[in-house]
Amino acid sequence: MRFYLHICKKSQFSCDILHLGRIFTPTSPQTAFFSCIYQKKVVILQPKKCCTMRHIIISALILSLILVGCSSHQEQYLIGVSQCLDDAWRQKMNEEMERELLLHPEMTISRRIAYGSNEMQCAQIDSFIAERVDLLIVSPNVAEEVKPVVTRAYRAGIPVIVADRRVTGDEWTAFIGGDNYRVGQLMADWLLSVQAKKKQPLHVLEVAGLPGSTPATFRHQGMMEYLAESDGLQPHIESVMGSWYKEDAYKVVLEYLRTHKHVEAIVAHNDLMAIGAAEAVRDSKGYGKGSVRIMGVDGILPGLQAIVDGTIECSATYPSRGDMIIETAAHILSEEPYVRDTILETVLIDATIANPMLGQYRARLHDLETLHIVQLQSESRWQQIKNGKTIFIISTVFVGILFLLALGFLLYSQRTLRKEIKRDIIPQLVEVQEAIQLSRKDVAFGERMKQIVEDHLTDPNLNVEFLGSELALSRTQIFRRVKTITGKGPLDYIRERRLIRADELLRTTDMTVQQVALELCFSSPGYFSKCYKEYFGHLPSMR
Ligand code: FRU
Repeated sequence: MRFYLHICKKSQFSCDILHLGRIFTPTSPQTAFFSCIYQKKVVILQPKKCCTMRHIIISALILSLILVGCSSHQEQYLIGVSQCLDDAWRQKMNEEMERELLLHPEMTISRRIAYGSNEMQCAQIDSFIAERVDLLIVSPNVAEEVKPVVTRAYRAGIPVIVADRRVTGDEWTAFIGGDNYRVGQLMADWLLSVQAKKKQPLHVLEVAGLPGSTPATFRHQGMMEYLAESDGLQPHIESVMGSWYKEDAYKVVLEYLRTHKHVEAIVAHNDLMAIGAAEAVRDSKGYGKGSVRIMGVDGILPGLQAIVDGTIECSATYPSRGDMIIETAAHILSEEPYVRDTILETVLIDATIANPMLGQYRARLHDLETLHIVQLQSESRWQQIKNGKTIFIISTVFVGILFLLALGFLLYSQRTLRKEIKRDIIPQLVEVQEAIQLSRKDVAFGERMKQIVEDHLTDPNLNVEFLGSELALSRTQIFRRVKTITGKGPLDYIRERRLIRADELLRTTDMTVQQVALELCFSSPGYFSKCYKEYFGHLPSMR
């Protein structure tokens, strides 16, 4: 423990400070105290002010700033994504979302796939509601079946983006999807072009998507209304349900073609069903290669490849725009303006543009793969950073705790020391002060007494009673005080002073031993010689 040592002039506690700030390390406060008493100085010990309230507040502020700095982070959002199916088109949509999410580290998505089951999709959305996701993106399987749970989420205060397939009503936050009605019109337009030079109505098989799903409804409706409005010969159209799956489409088309041998064109509500239908045609008796012209919808990899291969004739684009969906989610979450209803354009793809589109598509896929690798790398880097940050936070908290403990300990020891000083040192200092004040009185008394004695050495009346009357003290008091100051009784002291004066006279005058003995009131020269020898060690005559 270190102390500031205040050394004070004489015995004043009010302290004329001689040295302030001389630092030393005593083994105990008492040691320091007594060592300075020895030098006839008074010491006030005081612990070095190594931590004041100001230091504590500043340190606590710095510490809290560090902690706040470490813990401050951007708000994070959890987005629930409910996909009705998991096919090539939806995988593309998912990839587009993932890519866009790279730009939005504040968002994390949790994706659940219902595999065409309305019940499963409802249960999954309910679990998103229970988890209190910050936003829900839903591509409903069958609109009316899934609508109640979408409404529940919306009413629970969760913003809902409906993607691709609509739900009826307007209890949703935003919609982004293709123009299915327009898709239907493109199908009709193509059928009319196929029928163009024919005298008979074109025999058409429509392979429809899942009944009740809005694309199936509107694609059919768009096609039929467009045909109805067109002049001239109307194609003859029959429908089967492919439910969006290639395998289902293959089966229903194969079955249909078994009994219907005049089909000239097939419009399938998506490319996968168009390819399934093409395989059914290939496997049907009575249908030669190229005897049935086929159109699909979607225009992504399988469809484009099928057009390039000549398996199907054309397709209509049906954009998925997962990137736009995420961007809209970001706007909604940050309460920025967004477009509530976004209808994406659709165009016809035929053999003339399928090849370059396929090239572009492959290049994009390659980019996506590269992006995916970059994403994985950045995720692992991010994880490393997060780990580093966690370690940093833990160590800062740890250091903070140590720091507070150290402060606590310092404060505690400071208090204890103050108490000790108050309890042990101050009373001792008071005692010493009293002692020193007493001794100062003794010195003054001694000076006076010495003077009286010196002035009356040749006076035969100089004795205890004489001193008592001169100093106004009783005989007993005279004995005690003279003893305290000189260490001798009053008579011994008087005799000592006379012997010293006698020696002085012998040395400095021509006086004889007898004359000196008489002068200084010794009863006889013999007694003087005896006392002189006792005091000086030799006879006065031997000087
Ligand atoms: C994919 C898909 C697409 C179709 C869309 C309609 O799941 O079937 O092929 O265009 O859904 O929602």
